[in-house]
Amino acid sequence: MQLSFFESSCIAGVTFPNRLIRSATHEGMADERGAPTEALEKLYLRIAKGGAGAIITGYAGVQQDGKSSLSNMLMIDCDELIPAYRKLTDRVHEQGVPIILQIAHCGRQTRSAVTGMQTVAPSPVKDFIFNEEIPHALDDREIETIINNFVAAAERAKKAGFDGVQLHMAHGYLLAQFLSNHTNRRRDKWGGSTENKFRIISEIMRRTRESLGSYPVLAKINAYDGRPKGMRVEEAVEIARMLEAAGCDAIEVSSGTVEDGLAIMRGPNPPVGALFNSSFRFKDMSPLIKTISSPFIRFSMRSPNPLRGYNIKAAKAIKEAVSIPVITVGGLHDLSDISSAIESGSADYISMSRPFIIEPDIAGKFRQGKQTASRCIMCNYCALMIEVDKVKCYYGKLPGRK
Ligand SMILES: Cc1cc2nc3c(=O)[nH]c(=O)nc-3n(C[C@H](O)[C@H](O)[C@H](O)COP(=O)(O)O)c2cc1C
Repeated sequence: MQLSFFESSCIAGVTFPNRLIRSATHEGMADERGAPTEALEKLYLRIAKGGAGAIITGYAGVQQDGKSSLSNMLMIDCDELIPAYRKLTDRVHEQGVPIILQIAHCGRQTRSAVTGMQTVAPSPVKDFIFNEEIPHALDDREIETIINNFVAAAERAKKAGFDGVQLHMAHGYLLAQFLSNHTNRRRDKWGGSTENKFRIISEIMRRTRESLGSYPVLAKINAYDGRPKGMRVEEAVEIARMLEAAGCDAIEVSSGTVEDGLAIMRGPNPPVGALFNSSFRFKDMSPLIKTISSPFIRFSMRSPNPLRGYNIKAAKAIKEAVSIPVITVGGLHDLSDISSAIESGSADYISMSRPFIIEPDIAGKFRQGKQTASRCIMCNYCALMIEVDKVKCYYGKLPGRK
């Protein structure tokens, strides 16, 4: 069956061979400086040869205090990294597949024990997960530096041959922290109204356009974040309109924060075993404490329902409000769900993360009719174990265990 999403199309002049995109997925395959390694190149080649419509990289840090607490994150904070990225993009382009660099600052969702610097945020609001410290509330000068570093990251991405950048404005990272009333309690020009909360992003967009003209800039946003007084779909629609007005080329619709348990990547069972083996908070606890705390953790890690296609409704609301392409992600692992999301006009493109972890060639398998659903069981061990190792599929089992 030839479905329309296997036809080629364009975003901001970039040709996408089909509409099935690999969503940003932290791979843990950068070297100690944040440059891509051979392992990452091999993975991207498997995804590209395997039929993906585009690759969005794992998040790349724009400055050191915004680095992830996960192991081996990509960085894009200095020019010396450009040649390694150029090699990577050249190899992916040989397969006719576009590659987009996701750029991010983690804000309060990281640890000073890892970055060596205090965590920062719009306001000094503690994170339930990263709760060792109260983040420092950024001042005007520091916000200006962050804006300039996002722009510098986009400039480097262009020089390195990426087909565009994607601003990570979702999942509770710094730009999402500015947008959500839960984390942004400011009363100055960076907080309060949606326009003020969006100012950091409109400045990034404006300065990027000034510097790079029509270079493609995409955004991944949270339609809702599950936080008290946090992001809701109605405000996300407004933000989508502002993004379009600011010159954004496509919006990927996601939801959830790290603090919100497994709302970002949902699954039927809380991955408690993986948490106990990977998390800085739990891995050194005694077996007795782990046993006692297990029911509470299981409870707090429950995924909300539904488990499939959980951002489609929000994507549709956003798509109705903007005329730029809308991508949606989240539990879209089955060809019939993917097909109906596109054919019902809820989104123009579909992106997936976990299906590409278990089967980097999943897009090609769908296209060739070899498979109609991903083999991913949504155990989410991949999402927990990246704290200590590179990304891989565990299929619900830890190494060395039956
Ligand atoms: C191991 C892992 C790493 C991820 N890393 C990122 C990331 O770097 N940036 C991002 O925006 N989302 C990241 N995500 C979220 C995914 O892009 C996606 O939004 C989420 O997993 C839901 O999609 P899925 O059901 O297709 O997995 C990650 C997810 C997983 C499982």
